[in-house]
Amino acid sequence: MEKTIAVLPGDGIGPEVTSAAVKVLKLIARRYNHSFKLSYGLIGGAAIDALGNPFPEETADACQASDAVLLGAVGGPKWDANASGNRPENGLLAIRKHFGLFANLRPVKAVPALLGASPLKEEKASDVDLMIVRELTGGLYFGEPKHRTHEAAVDTLSYSREEIERIVDKAFELARVRRGKVTSVDKANVLETSRLWREVVEEKKAAYPDVRVEHQLVDSCAMKLITDPAAFDVVVTENMFGDILSDEASVITGSLGMLPSASIRSDGFGLYEPVHGSGPDIAGKGIANPAAAILSAAMMLRYSFGMDTEAAAIEEAVQTVLEDGFRTADVAEEGTRALSTEEWTERILEQLDSEAVSD
Ligand code: NAD
Ligand code: IPM
Ligand code: MN
Repeated sequence: MEKTIAVLPGDGIGPEVTSAAVKVLKLIARRYNHSFKLSYGLIGGAAIDALGNPFPEETADACQASDAVLLGAVGGPKWDANASGNRPENGLLAIRKHFGLFANLRPVKAVPALLGASPLKEEKASDVDLMIVRELTGGLYFGEPKHRTHEAAVDTLSYSREEIERIVDKAFELARVRRGKVTSVDKANVLETSRLWREVVEEKKAAYPDVRVEHQLVDSCAMKLITDPAAFDVVVTENMFGDILSDEASVITGSLGMLPSASIRSDGFGLYEPVHGSGPDIAGKGIANPAAAILSAAMMLRYSFGMDTEAAAIEEAVQTVLEDGFRTADVAEEGTRALSTEEWTERILEQLDSEAVSD
């Protein structure tokens, strides 16, 4: 297959982990006879520095001309004092909104080899296999009015019925091909948007009789994610709750550096990026865990290109390399040597190259 991929490395550890994911994509292309054309673009702080805009038109055009987008991370202390519309994070919000990427899929699966790296007890973490379905283009992030003066600030939490319907449908569809359970997370004891959200879920469930539905308030959900994370299958929630719960859930896997994500719409086009940020505390050291970026590339193959075999090969290689004891610093066991980003990526490439291609 021939595909064009826009690559937006971004800031901090973004370029370090993106370069690892690109190496993996190139190897997959060679091994499975695909042609991936890569077109590089600027986003976030790097784009502000070069072009004065965190999501420049050139970047939008490159993405528009591509089948999917691979993104690293944006942000960093250098731009933290920037005016509200000109922060690196605005670039990320703009690209999501511009392409209508309303569904953010954040899978959280326990990695057997890393159970020791999780702060949770092994018996709590071992069976975890959940998917957070985060609404990505609405809610507090985008609601109007949004402004501030010296004395006050306003953000608006608003959702239309239509915005809720499409993300809830996505969650039900995913649950159908997983373990058949949806947990809808809201704050319906306080928020009007949550009461509408709950109403839509109740209406929708009739169309999916094979899926079990439960409602859970976000505060107790945060607690249950730690006390009984294996009880969850698909978790569907609004933008801000999903942002917070997904970082929380990442600890189950041992590190934020393990968590990939897909931001998609209904036609197959998607943006793939790690859940983590630009890691200012480790940027430039060459020690970031590239697994989240590499697994995001695997999600791209699966969700945008329909390349299930290739995606599974990458996921298996990640498991195998970890099982063989090769770790980056964030998940390394005490007293063992941690590999650099590049060394760990080399292990993945060797592993992928040694596996037989089955079709
Ligand atoms: P962060 O995710 O960058 O880092 C949190 C902690 O996790 C840090 O200690 C970091 O070293 C560690 N970490 C993150 N990714 C890692 C990896 N791959 N390997 C090893 N360790 C890793 O979050 P933060 O520090 O709160 O935010 C830093 C900047 O990133 C901010 O400017 C924020 O806005 C931005 N951010 C961007 C994205 C994105 O681009 N998608 C996501 C979150 C935060
Ligand atoms: C994420 C990040 C972003 C978000 C920020 C950087 C805008 O935290 O992708 O999880 O809040 O969506
Ligand atoms: Mn986040």
